[in-house]
Amino acid sequence: MNRTVTEKLAGIITPLYYYDVDLLKKTVETAKSEADKRGYILHYATKANANPKILKIIFAAGFGADCVSGNEILRSVECGVAPALITFAGVGKTDTEINTGLDNDIFTFNCESIPEMENIDRLAEAKGKTADISIRINPDVDAKTHEYISTGKKENKFGISAWDFEKVIEKLKILKNLNLISLHFHVGSQIMDTSVFVEVCSRVNSFNQWFKERGFDLEHINVGGGLGIDYHTPDKNPIPDFASYFAIFEQNLKLYPGQKLHFEPGRSIVAQCGSLISRVLYVKEGKTKNFVIVDAGMTDLIRPALYHAHHHIENLSSNGAQKIYDVAGPICESADCFDRDVHLPETKRGDFIALRSAGAYGEVMASQYNLRAIPGSVFSDEIPVKECEINKI
Ligand SMILES: Cc1ncc(COP(=O)(O)O)c(C=O)c1O
Repeated sequence: MNRTVTEKLAGIITPLYYYDVDLLKKTVETAKSEADKRGYILHYATKANANPKILKIIFAAGFGADCVSGNEILRSVECGVAPALITFAGVGKTDTEINTGLDNDIFTFNCESIPEMENIDRLAEAKGKTADISIRINPDVDAKTHEYISTGKKENKFGISAWDFEKVIEKLKILKNLNLISLHFHVGSQIMDTSVFVEVCSRVNSFNQWFKERGFDLEHINVGGGLGIDYHTPDKNPIPDFASYFAIFEQNLKLYPGQKLHFEPGRSIVAQCGSLISRVLYVKEGKTKNFVIVDAGMTDLIRPALYHAHHHIENLSSNGAQKIYDVAGPICESADCFDRDVHLPETKRGDFIALRSAGAYGEVMASQYNLRAIPGSVFSDEIPVKECEINKI
């Protein structure tokens, strides 16, 4: 990110999320064109960032949506997604949320348990509808990522495990208002070790064969999201390598003729276009540590506190000599520290600090703890370039 910020930026209220629209559009176009080449279908994981302007850009490019709540379905529809391209996952769908899905004739309910299948069947029957469903399979694959964003091990709450498949088939004979059309998988997020995806493919192949041998001609396979991004050097890798990612599935998945392959990318689409911009409130010089206290906190970006996640931190205002600081927020929690021992140019009150790669699981996870305000957002195409040189990323 360009470190020069003009005086005009001083008028902007921080903390706020800044989104680079050009980068978002380029990322969306790259992912879509690489998917189109192979006939793959993309459902953007709305949970990563549900800012309406971001959703509109993504859906205008032809993405479907992967939703995990009734409100995400409603927001996605408002922002232009085709309801026939909405998948609905989540272990705890309420009756109201299931009805929202049924009323919008979504593509599939990704069912995470047999009791959930029974409930969707009951609600579909009440509406005189048949619900198209996927079985979300827990493939017992280690995503080799942080334990809180690992979802595909047998001890995780997500999905239905292989030992319950016979019961699922028995249930499907009784539940006349469900139509099984797909198998769904999602083993975790921020996956950097591509061998994980190879293992997912091998598990998908055996489950796909298992259902085929029992007479299910499933039209769709959905392998979820999970592709990681470069948090350490975002300017080197602003757009994830979608071509190589899709090639793994092309080379390792054995789809049956006519089967369509779906993905649910979230982070890989939106993370790099967003930065959390904050101002320095105080610089505390200690005996062993120097602290930069900024006006953004874990309420604005919880990833470092929740997952020990790393975000590259930049001082946009200073060209001074390098010093080492802990960069912390104002919240009354010791976990409210964005990073320790960060090398920054000499920093003073009023400097602008950017926390990079914050477009995914940032704004959307903001809370009002300590009764703080929810951060605002600004898009690069809304600020005249002369007023804000941050535009020139
Ligand atoms: C079911 C499902 N699909 C897709 C995603 C998106 O994952 P990512 O943002 O890592 O691409 C998630 C995220 O946790 C998920 O739970």
